[in-house]
Amino acid sequence: METKIYKIEDCAACFGQIREAAKIIKTGGLVAFPTETVYGLGANACDPNASKKIYEAKGRPSDNPLIVHIAEFEDLYRIAGDVPAKAKLLSNAFWPGPLTIIVKKGKAVPYETTGGLDTVAVRMPDHKTALALIRESGCLIAAPSANKSGRPSPTLAAHVKEDLNGRIPLILDGGEVGIGIESTIVDLTEETPMILRPGYITADMLAEKIGTVWTDPAILTKDTSARPKAPGMKYRHYAPKADLIVIEGKKKNVIEKINALTREKQSQGRKVGVIGTDETIGYYQGDRVLTVGSGKDVDHIARNLYRILREFDEMETDVIYSESFRSFRIGQAVMNRLLKAAGHQVLMAKDNQGDTKIV
Ligand code: TXA
Ligand code: MG
Repeated sequence: METKIYKIEDCAACFGQIREAAKIIKTGGLVAFPTETVYGLGANACDPNASKKIYEAKGRPSDNPLIVHIAEFEDLYRIAGDVPAKAKLLSNAFWPGPLTIIVKKGKAVPYETTGGLDTVAVRMPDHKTALALIRESGCLIAAPSANKSGRPSPTLAAHVKEDLNGRIPLILDGGEVGIGIESTIVDLTEETPMILRPGYITADMLAEKIGTVWTDPAILTKDTSARPKAPGMKYRHYAPKADLIVIEGKKKNVIEKINALTREKQSQGRKVGVIGTDETIGYYQGDRVLTVGSGKDVDHIARNLYRILREFDEMETDVIYSESFRSFRIGQAVMNRLLKAAGHQVLMAKDNQGDTKIV
């Protein structure tokens, strides 16, 4: 199958292309499209065969449910068996936007879309092309991230092409996404709402609207026997080909530790990659040193992270050392993804007598 790519800069000017994409969705096919978080791979959420095609194209395990994307709040009533008051509060506050809510499933959504669960994940993306596609198709659009299973989510149409060329008929290219990390997922089916995947919308932002919010303890631990409530969080997603190790500690100690490890590996004939920031990359001696952006701009780091991980897959490196990007707001989500990519391999850089001077 040939995969077409249409550049969509302006929905009104590109309406013909959006209509063509909507026709593919309406007739049971797949279209990759931009959202504000990452690119999605869309299909009619109410058509079991269309959902199956998503799993095939991605090589995704069939127990991993899909997020249903909607363009109007009322569509939630088409999907949900029950719309709790907290769903209204959250959607009022954060939709369209990077928040997915989980509610009880209604009859319109087949089990093929929910991975056999009686609950369904729903979100309204904050992206003109995504909303135009949903509206024009008249469908609810099931869409996981448009990567092959096990690869970082796509933040560029080129990433979608890399993974799915020849497997899907059409990619709508909206340029680089705005956020770069998948939506926050909050489960509203229990008494106390629970975050199943951290994202741009933080626990504090949710709590301000709906009171106490818990975070699934299974996503905070490296213990692989803990079972996350979001089936997708149990897979070691976002894993680069090289071994990835995160180094934590004071900036100066981290740089010294990474350089010491780099020298050790290089003396064994291994190729070393380093992930740093604009402020620190000049200090590293790795074979490949990439920056995720300014350490002062965590939004920029979020947007770059998956692209950098993909770039390392193209390079000959045996091991990658990364700085830690722990911080407030989306920093939590960035670290969640980075630690997952690293299989939770973390080293602590301690104070020593090194002489690196950081300004
Ligand atoms: O930002 C996003 O959410 C992107 C864009 C395309 O919207 N989509 C995305 O979808 O990240 P995906 O399929 O890559 O991740 C969906 C996650 C998976 O971890 C899945 O297990 C979880 O949501 N999920 C979906 N439905 C669920 C449900 N009913 N209960 C628990 N977890 C669910
Ligand atoms: Mg995904």
